[in-house]
Amino acid sequence: MSEEVFHSPKKHGRIMVLLSGRGSNFMAIADAVSAGKIDAEIALVFSNKEAAPGLAAARDRGLQTLALSPKDYPDKVSYDQAIIREAESRNIDLICLAGYMKVLTTEFCSAYQNRILNIHPALLPSFPGLHVQQQAIDWGVRFSGCTVHFVSAEVDMGAIVLQAVVPVLQDDTADSLAERILVEEHKIYPEAVRLYFEGRLEVRGRRVFIL
Ligand code: GRF
Repeated sequence: MSEEVFHSPKKHGRIMVLLSGRGSNFMAIADAVSAGKIDAEIALVFSNKEAAPGLAAARDRGLQTLALSPKDYPDKVSYDQAIIREAESRNIDLICLAGYMKVLTTEFCSAYQNRILNIHPALLPSFPGLHVQQQAIDWGVRFSGCTVHFVSAEVDMGAIVLQAVVPVLQDDTADSLAERILVEEHKIYPEAVRLYFEGRLEVRGRRVFIL
């Protein structure tokens, strides 16, 4: 059986960011876009939370924003369909999850297969899910870090694009470790998006090759 191969497109891309909170990863990507390091534009910053600080930051930067409340939709599928419509109407090439606290439906993941990235504050496949900095401390691991990965229907399990490692120190708290990891997140997420639109990501099954 031949393996399906995906190549990221080399183009000036249109990005949609999905966030639920402070949006520091969004800002790292936006800064890299403004600095001309990523050949793309951020066409929409979307949130499930009207009051997300990241949304206000996007407005301050003059970016188009949109918040839709899941409460206004009968179920998850119709909510995600609404987001997909917003993405389609803007010809979005890549969706960047940046602290988006809702799990995407299978329908969303397949509609945008190989076109959704996420950043996770642990070295996947270790510690998927939530509160992962505390989990890393509780496990006594010596190193943790962050992972940029493609999003598939299985949460935090899509193909890995980039990772960065940080030490876990003996006196770390979840907050101090999160802070150390965040510094690396802000480096590898923009880098992954840059590689994506340089047409340099080749996905073969679970493995991503950087061309
Ligand atoms: C980051 O730690 C990211 O890894 C995780 O959610 C947090 C979002 O932070 N997915 P921010 O909103 O980007 O500052």
